[in-house]
Amino acid sequence: MTPAYELFNLGSNDELAGEISTILGVPLAPIDIKTFADNEIYERIENTVRGRNVYVIQGITAPVNDNFMKLMIFIDAARRASANSINVIIPYFGYARSDRKARSREPISARMIANMLESQGVKRVMTMDLHADQVQGFFDIPVDHLLAMPALGHYFYANDLLGDDLVVVAPDHSSVARARKFAKLLHADWALVDRRVDSVRPNTPYQITGNVSGKRAILIDDIIDTGTSMVLASEAATNAGAIEIYAVATHAVLSDNAVDHLEKAPIDHVVVTNTVEIAEHKKMSKLKVLSVAESFAEAIRRINVFESIEDVLKSPDNLDVML
Ligand code: R5P
Repeated sequence: MTPAYELFNLGSNDELAGEISTILGVPLAPIDIKTFADNEIYERIENTVRGRNVYVIQGITAPVNDNFMKLMIFIDAARRASANSINVIIPYFGYARSDRKARSREPISARMIANMLESQGVKRVMTMDLHADQVQGFFDIPVDHLLAMPALGHYFYANDLLGDDLVVVAPDHSSVARARKFAKLLHADWALVDRRVDSVRPNTPYQITGNVSGKRAILIDDIIDTGTSMVLASEAATNAGAIEIYAVATHAVLSDNAVDHLEKAPIDHVVVTNTVEIAEHKKMSKLKVLSVAESFAEAIRRINVFESIEDVLKSPDNLDVML
């Protein structure tokens, strides 16, 4: 018999949570969430969860601290209500970029978040494309780390966009592993934006290592936040002769004036997933949002019946590539 479970949504991404619930055929369980006049958050789980496995969907997206606090308060309520297990699904793991001390007296906020979740009794975390894979190691509980690459890659397969003139470009050194994998998935070459400033010509675009001249370039990153990395990379690729540019990323954080910057940059298409809910006014015409609900739903289904999720991490378009 399938172990029963309850699925909750705390509201950081209603669209994604709704899609996951529809695919699973499991309704979102009712919860009363209020914000008091002084901004304190109140939550009450409306039906019993005693002895049940609880799955709660909440990304650490803007407003980042409120959304995280909502999650922590939910966990406290579920634990005190005698849930059998609390499994948190964090489609976008905010604070993951703070994963090391780069300078003296800095925090490692990603580690602190992991400690807080674990200390409150969370039994499992499911997320997608952490800024660095090693953040999984900040937890002593299972982390199911899903990948957006199957969905992102499928966009290029399904729209017949593969070809010898395709090159995948890493916008900086830290994105090289991702770019190489994506290039392999798409049978393309890869290149790298070298973000060292030329001391002789400091105002020229960054240089590209590899050949993008006369090619369609796919810039790939985990996050588009302010858009700066993508804009700089697109300028470098255009300067090096790229003829069409795709900016591809998992998490469309799109803070500040990111949309404005992306609109004005020499970028033809922005392809992202729906791990972060995108406000209507940010949906520019060159934006394509791909759903990753299927991956989350299938992973939840399998976890709940103790099946492997290995296949969820593969691209059906190219099973030979280890993503
Ligand atoms: C940084 O290490 C990340 O991988 C992204 O490159 C970065 O978060 C993108 O931020 P922005 O859009 O503000 O340049």
